[in-house]
Amino acid sequence: MTDIVLFLHVLGALTVGFYLLLPFVVSKLKGLNPQAQVGFARSIFGLNRVGQWLLIVQFLTGGYLISKYELSVAWMIVVIVLFVALGAVSGMIAGPLKRIIAHGGEGKAAAAKDASKLSAFSGAASLLVLVLLFLMYYPGVL
Ligand code: HEM
Repeated sequence: MTDIVLFLHVLGALTVGFYLLLPFVVSKLKGLNPQAQVGFARSIFGLNRVGQWLLIVQFLTGGYLISKYELSVAWMIVVIVLFVALGAVSGMIAGPLKRIIAHGGEGKAAAAKDASKLSAFSGAASLLVLVLLFLMYYPGVL
């Protein structure tokens, strides 16, 4: 059973890896015309939705794995805090995307504020996934 759950957890980790690449993808937004920005923002919005569901899978499979491995309390606390932060950031990513979709629909380019929020939140999500992955592989550091 643990084998299957670990497999699902690692599969989830690969797909959540979408957040690792996101900052590089969103950096291309500014160069597009308003119509293209709408399509671009829509596809990222959709992927982010899927990412949020996959985060739930990570949490459920990770919760099961916690009971099977010897891990320090510090590790569990830090992982859960970072994970909750990642969940929050993934929700925050949706805000500027919605506004970019609405603006583009009116023929206006993304507001500078939304574009910079999007890149800041994507950067944070990417960093959080990186740190979580590090902690998964080196649980001994905590
Ligand atoms: C974005 C979030 C996460 C990613 C990318 C991730 C990734 C991974 C990966 C790749 C492994 C396999 C490590 C190995 O085989 O050595 C792993 C193991 C594990 N994960 Fe996660 N995980 C995430 C979230 C979580 C959460 C939220 C929990 C707990 C609630 C958790 C608990 C565990 C446990 C207990 C193990 C097995 C012990 C270990 O190898 O350290 N993970 N995770």
